[in-house]
Amino acid sequence: MARLAGRKIIITGGASGIGRATARLFRQEGAAVAILDRSDTAAKAVADEIGAVAIACDVSDPASVSAAVNKAAEAMGGLDGVINAAGILAETGIADTTAEVFSRTVAVNLTGTFLVIQAAAPLIQKAGRGTIREHRLRCRLDAHRSGQCRLRRLKGRGRRADQVGGDGAGAEYPRELGLSRGG
Ligand SMILES: NC(=O)c1ccc[n+]([C@@H]2O[C@H](COP(=O)([O-])OP(=O)(O)OC[C@H]3O[C@@H](n4cnc5c(N)ncnc54)[C@H](O)[C@@H]3O)[C@@H](O)[C@H]2O)c1
Repeated sequence: MARLAGRKIIITGGASGIGRATARLFRQEGAAVAILDRSDTAAKAVADEIGAVAIACDVSDPASVSAAVNKAAEAMGGLDGVINAAGILAETGIADTTAEVFSRTVAVNLTGTFLVIQAAAPLIQKAGRGTIREHRLRCRLDAHRSGQCRLRRLKGRGRRADQVGGDGAGAEYPRELGLSRGG
């Protein structure tokens, strides 16, 4: 039986890598999925393959995030989960990493995570249940912590809020959404 039937989930960075694998798994498990990615062509190709919604979005841009998150919720008829998998990785060592590259990494991986949580939280509150999840990036921790100010409030009202620590391609998510294997 599909373990995520009825769930409506945004997956940022779903056009590639971990986000794409997570999107495939979530669709297999019956969730409605909206892929938010800056690469709209690749996002659309994945969405067409798995039966998801693709929305162009730059997670580092507040206006883009706000519009995309609201559009995703509208397309799915609500929102009760977010996977923050959009990210960039500078392959250079610290000596060769320019301030510009560092700033862009912070803008996407840290600010982007914060912006998506901030835009999604009120919609998840409306749903009455929810999960917000980030892939393991140490520089996302602060965004996560500031997001947790809101998450704690969600938790206090009986909603679920998971923490950093994602490994692999999302195989553990159904369990973390509160569903045991086979349950
Ligand atoms: N692959 C790993 O083993 C691993 C391990 C730990 C952490 N991470 C981190 O997790 C994240 C995802 O890794 P991946 O291997 O899936 O990377 P990936 O490059 O395959 O996928 C990242 C996705 O994010 C999207 N993206 C990038 N910038 C964006 C932006 N500004 N707005 C919206 N979308 C944007 C890209 O278009 C791409 O689809 C990265 O930040 C990576 O550093 C990866």
